[in-house]
Amino acid sequence: MKRIGILTAGGDTPALNATIHGAVTRANQLKVEVVGLIKGFNCLFNPRVPHVHLNPLYQNIPELDPTKGGTLIGSSRDFVDPNKKDDLDMVASRLQKLGIEGLICIGGDGTLNGLQPFAERLPTVLAPKTIDNDLGLNYPSEPDEYVRVNDATAKHGFRYKRTESHTQFDLNSIVNYATPGYATAVFVSASGVERIRTTAESHRRIAIIEVMGRHSGYIALGSTYGQPDIVLVPEIAPDLELLVARVKHLYDLQKNVVIVCGEGIVDEQGRELGAETKSTDPAGNVVLSGASEALRSKLIQMIGDKFFQLYRRGESAKEAIFTRKVGHTQRGGRPILFDRFYAAAQGAKAVELLVEGRNNAVSVLQYNTTKGFFVEGYDANRFRDRWGLIHARKMHPALYDPKLMKPSKLGMDYLMPIFTDAIGEDDMEHTRRTLFAAGNLSQPYHSINTDVHKRIRYLQAETV
Ligand code: F6P
Repeated sequence: MKRIGILTAGGDTPALNATIHGAVTRANQLKVEVVGLIKGFNCLFNPRVPHVHLNPLYQNIPELDPTKGGTLIGSSRDFVDPNKKDDLDMVASRLQKLGIEGLICIGGDGTLNGLQPFAERLPTVLAPKTIDNDLGLNYPSEPDEYVRVNDATAKHGFRYKRTESHTQFDLNSIVNYATPGYATAVFVSASGVERIRTTAESHRRIAIIEVMGRHSGYIALGSTYGQPDIVLVPEIAPDLELLVARVKHLYDLQKNVVIVCGEGIVDEQGRELGAETKSTDPAGNVVLSGASEALRSKLIQMIGDKFFQLYRRGESAKEAIFTRKVGHTQRGGRPILFDRFYAAAQGAKAVELLVEGRNNAVSVLQYNTTKGFFVEGYDANRFRDRWGLIHARKMHPALYDPKLMKPSKLGMDYLMPIFTDAIGEDDMEHTRRTLFAAGNLSQPYHSINTDVHKRIRYLQAETV
């Protein structure tokens, strides 16, 4: 294999450049050329196919910096519909014209869903990315536990449901233990929780902090490092009576409460509290925008104004209970050491998989209690259920204690290998050296896009 393509698809993460760096560095060693496809699959729908050569003469271009968040080749949520054979053929022929013999998609579960039809046209592998940590399996047989149930309100008259698990959950059996981007997202959310605490303490308030993760509670679980009082995850509907009792107890004791909630939390009927409007993004995912606000309304109604007046801590529940979203800061900025290191290793593994002829495979990060972390190839189809669908991984319920509303002992055991040494000394040193540099005041921001633009080449000349 002499020339491969690489693209980043879906929402960005802080570790995308690290994955690309790992892939290109390994490709240099193996004397493989790497072509970056601009803005994910969007590039392949454009007849001009904008692309950039990432390793001329088998040297990384200087713009490829693994410590910089985002992706130098751009990303989009465009995807190729696996049912549109003409589109797939067109994309394959464009890749062929570029001389590309294999493709690395850096993406999440949506990208993995569309991998098979590509893999039927040219060798294609996936290097995972997602801050949500939802690309993977809690154990290898997890896809077999999905069934279809009739549902007249669903698009095709049915929806997928997870049946009761009959598998013993064991950390060593997790497929893709953590995804690149997850550790940094937790670093940001846990820091946010820590910071909001002191203002809640000073002003005797109840803070509800909403973190990302869609229907998966891994970011919420990891945010426990910021020491919130209560953590709510999408996988387990909160017992509202218990929640209110706990909030009141804590407020009485410490005059402030900090709650972390995943954006996908549901009520007892399984309805998403945050999906106030049924809007979807281009990949068909429901846009979750109001979990913390919905929870706030419930607490305001259930606790009532009197409670706060009695404590002489404000006039109303509305005043005392506030919400904050950590938002897109979770997805941006410099990746911490754990992400940089393993993202690069997974990128490198993706190149090896292609060179070894492993088509339709994923480079996964595995964990073993005695061996520690290691990367390996995993057949993409082993992520699929019997109908061929890949489901986003949910946090295994054994990682959470619904009574304590915190991680269980197993949940802590899950988190510690990732986070104990996740921050490198250089991560903090970088902030110390760069944040208040005088040049930040006087110099305009220099976007990487400006530099990469000068390197972009096209398959066809522009038609006017
Ligand atoms: O999948 C990553 C993610 O950040 C989710 O956690 C979040 O729900 C969503 O993407 C936000 O998407 P957008 O950036 O399109 O608003």
